[in-house]
Amino acid sequence: MDIPKFHPDSRALVKQYLTPAIYKQLSPLETPSGFTLKAAIQSGLKNPDSHIGIYAGDALSYSVFSRILDPIIHAYHAVGKTFEHSPDLDQTGLDQPSLAPLDPGKDFILSCRVRVARNLSEFCFPCHIHSRDRARVASLVFDAVKKLPQELAGSYLSFNDLSPSQMQDHLTRKQAFPKGDRFQDAAGINRDFPDARGIFASQDNNFMIWVNEEDHLRIISMEASADLSGVFNRLCRGLGHLSTQLEFAFDKRYGFLTSCPTNIGSAMRAGVHIRLRKLEKNKGILEKLTAQYQLQIRGTGGEKTSVEKGIFDISNKQRLGIPESLIIQNLHAGLAAIIEAEKSL
Ligand code: ARG
Repeated sequence: MDIPKFHPDSRALVKQYLTPAIYKQLSPLETPSGFTLKAAIQSGLKNPDSHIGIYAGDALSYSVFSRILDPIIHAYHAVGKTFEHSPDLDQTGLDQPSLAPLDPGKDFILSCRVRVARNLSEFCFPCHIHSRDRARVASLVFDAVKKLPQELAGSYLSFNDLSPSQMQDHLTRKQAFPKGDRFQDAAGINRDFPDARGIFASQDNNFMIWVNEEDHLRIISMEASADLSGVFNRLCRGLGHLSTQLEFAFDKRYGFLTSCPTNIGSAMRAGVHIRLRKLEKNKGILEKLTAQYQLQIRGTGGEKTSVEKGIFDISNKQRLGIPESLIIQNLHAGLAAIIEAEKSL
């Protein structure tokens, strides 16, 4: 039983940790829904530039394949051997009234966005879900959003109802999400796209739910302001309501269970788009600050895009073993320090 051959240049975590002994032990196994190690590592095998290279096909993948997933989780999330995740989300969000205004002059922060990933415990995850269940997920979300309170109420757009040109138009206006990238494609996440995919959006577009993208739900709160705690608190209110309707896959150790092991724990990415004209030319200072506050820098086009015109996407790196409100507070402290540095240059 030879380990499948990863590309010689691949530095994916899955390649680093999949020893012959682990491969031998795990390759004959299946989760009760029939997900295998072979399916889990397809994306890493087909994409030599993968950083991680493995996806979970269902909640039980995390226990059945823990011998490969645990070392990857330790390495990526920089947690000790005995990690656990206790979420501290409730409907009120942050218990202190709010965080100090970050950018009262509106000089730097263009927008704030907080998202969490969730999967319904009853169904396989997107790379392994049956088309019938994918439609079931969409219909459960469709029913759940009807019960949102007035403040968050809105409408659900099913991509099935869009012609290709309408879809293009919605993509341009960011009212739809595109078919996943080649990493998701190799994992099987794009199967049948755009079938059973859709977006719920509140009337003011500040609260959204992406349905059947990389995870069953990506719940997003955002707005064009620097009000990080306001955005977070709205997410908490929305999540609180949804949790009474939907049962999310959760584990005491791993937290909320997601397709990609990078997202487990809080499954939360909180970030801002921020214009830093001076730090753009002093990247060393910015990188030192982001490392100190455990933040990551991306381009504003999303994952694996580069920074353009001095506008950075800065978000939390830690997700597992840290309560959600602390993620927000750390991000807030880091952004305050970054803005200070930008002003002083
Ligand atoms: N599977 C890709 C890789 O290994 C992406 C990992 C993180 N991103 C994500 N959207 N889950 O590089």
